[in-house]
Amino acid sequence: MGEDLIPLKAIHHVELWVGNAKQAAYYYRQAFGFSQVAYAGLETGLRDRASYLLEQGRVRLVLSTPLSGGNGMSSHLTQHGDGVRDVAFHVEDADACFAAAIERGAKVASEPQTLSDEHGSVQHAAIHTYGDTLHSFISHDNYNGPFLPGYRAAPIAGEPVGLRFVDHIVGNVELGKMDVWAGFYANVLGFSQQQHFSDEDISTEYSALMSKVMESDNGRIKFPLNEPAKGRRKSQIEEYLDFNDGPGVQHIALLTDDIIKAIEKLRANGVEFLHVPDDYYDTLQKRVGAIDEDMADIRRLRILVDRDEEGYLLQLFTKPVEDRPTLFYEIIQRKGSRGFGYGNFKALFEAIELEQAARGNL
Ligand code: FE2
Repeated sequence: MGEDLIPLKAIHHVELWVGNAKQAAYYYRQAFGFSQVAYAGLETGLRDRASYLLEQGRVRLVLSTPLSGGNGMSSHLTQHGDGVRDVAFHVEDADACFAAAIERGAKVASEPQTLSDEHGSVQHAAIHTYGDTLHSFISHDNYNGPFLPGYRAAPIAGEPVGLRFVDHIVGNVELGKMDVWAGFYANVLGFSQQQHFSDEDISTEYSALMSKVMESDNGRIKFPLNEPAKGRRKSQIEEYLDFNDGPGVQHIALLTDDIIKAIEKLRANGVEFLHVPDDYYDTLQKRVGAIDEDMADIRRLRILVDRDEEGYLLQLFTKPVEDRPTLFYEIIQRKGSRGFGYGNFKALFEAIELEQAARGNL
């Protein structure tokens, strides 16, 4: 391999398009403990949308909503519902990354442009990935505004629950297309494949999925990709693809250093988590051995644990955060393991299927 032509420093932010950004911002502040930092909208000179920047640790979420029916955002929302539009990368040189990506076959979403205001300027460009999802490239040397040009400071402090950064972001892609998108991340963005799970690894009586984990050169960006596999009934991936009307981001995993505290607070704030059946805990100790945390807390808060050769991880998944059974969040703490909790998938699938059945989608 030659030099990395598209060196990605980190995820700059994740932008969600939602039906009502003002209310969504309130939800992410009150439920997840984000702080509102900046705002762009009519009052800042935008005519077509309103956007709110929320932060916790190094996690940045942008919530955007259209202000009229006549633009592409509205039809996007009608089709897909609330969800992730853009996983934006912080890079050294947005123009060069964009040029290299296009050269390697990426589809243009937005040509390179300079965005400026009184605080300075930022370079921006964007390419398409799966579904209607984009990857923006953002570079700035000494921009000193609250976020990006056009935003003004609009601080409302939240009560953080200890979320530090985006650990990974999972995409659900069409049946038979996992290799195509894994190839896109490998060939266009220079990612390498870390893990591969077949439908035999991840299946229950009813549904199955296949998964590949793609990772950026510096290891800081991890994008597992799921594709539905044939099961006896409709898989959770198919349910997502139906209700999202195509591929998209399935979940965003947020890392914490104290999952007990985080889940305690999130539950107190009213965040709904996937129900984990009681019998999961009956066999847990045997499956994962000794862990630092108190098993009583783990059971009480319904946290999942998985172990591999390198260590273990603790995780829990929210229910979808909108009415469609699409985007959800994962809270994760790592104790040596660099995995994704695939050992939990079988136990989890059974829990997910109970909820799918309750929605009439199994
Ligand atoms: Fe995950």
